[in-house]
Amino acid sequence: MTDIETGIEDEQLDKLYRDFETENLMPLWTQLGDLMPMVPTSKAVPFIWKWSTLYPLAKRAGDLVPVGRGGERRAIALANPGLGGVPYVSPTLWAAIQYLGPKEVAPEHRHAQNAFRFVVEGEGVWTVVNGDPVAMRRGDFLLTPGWHFHGHHNETDQPMAWIDGLDIPFVHYTDTGFFEFGSENVTDESTPDISRSERLWAHPGLRPLVGLDAKTSSPIAAYRWVHTDAALTEQLELEDEGYAATTEPGHAAVRYTNPTTGGDVMPTMRAEFHRLRDGARTRPRRDVGSTVYQVFEGRGRFVLDGRSTSVETGDMVVVPSWTEWSIEAESQFDLFAFSDAPIVEKLHFARTLITEGA
Ligand SMILES: [Fe+2]
Repeated sequence: MTDIETGIEDEQLDKLYRDFETENLMPLWTQLGDLMPMVPTSKAVPFIWKWSTLYPLAKRAGDLVPVGRGGERRAIALANPGLGGVPYVSPTLWAAIQYLGPKEVAPEHRHAQNAFRFVVEGEGVWTVVNGDPVAMRRGDFLLTPGWHFHGHHNETDQPMAWIDGLDIPFVHYTDTGFFEFGSENVTDESTPDISRSERLWAHPGLRPLVGLDAKTSSPIAAYRWVHTDAALTEQLELEDEGYAATTEPGHAAVRYTNPTTGGDVMPTMRAEFHRLRDGARTRPRRDVGSTVYQVFEGRGRFVLDGRSTSVETGDMVVVPSWTEWSIEAESQFDLFAFSDAPIVEKLHFARTLITEGA
């Protein structure tokens, strides 16, 4: 081919690309690597937020920013620095610290997004879910499934903070969100020790005969710490006695489940609690989908893509899809975890690679 012919072809090719652009078209062959990478390459990065940073900032917001209709919640989202300024902890998950001052009320509303709360410290707030007042206390995991009305009220003279987890990014990408305002004040201001949902549903292995249909989300509004703690304690004691009870040596784990299906508590999010003995470590692995941890108690290290970071009570860690991760305990180490695994598994995209020894 002559130089002249090559020049003509280059010119024609340039014009072809310009015409693609004019007509809102994009050729696959110039961007295949981004569209179909060999393995998941999340824009989200592994990242750690310290409770010693989160809590004082939330407290300052408590002093300066009122909570009420319109803003709805004094919630401060963990924004993954890899995601370009959106308030998402991962491509599918939202995580925030929410702060409610003494005697404050966060008004009722409902939305398509599924939500939960996890309490790392404090008490004195009741969340009212579809009219059922649910006490929030240390170590409790509390559900607000999609389209359930919910508001919060603090009955004490002390502030309280907790973490919220939602599927906001997933609902955003799929354009499936609806929102509705409810009552300005919570619809039931009573302060029972346990909710009606727990009185009906939260008895081990027993299911009320009024609820034999499979429900999309768990009808249990609160999973109490006393049960989680007992389950983990028993697993480690059984391991000591020589019985198979732990997921790997020195690593007890439970999954919060929907008693009507045995599956995850909500359609888009999985929640678990993990306890490692002092000195235990998890096998290094990669998983499809993203997971967020909050240290509940103790001290240890997260090793994320080869980088080891020390964490302690309240610290939050995001592990994006296909990040190599492992955890090392430097005391008894208790971790709350939530992930988008139900989405990944329902769509048959789940994969795990144990990388130990690689
Ligand atoms: Fe909400």
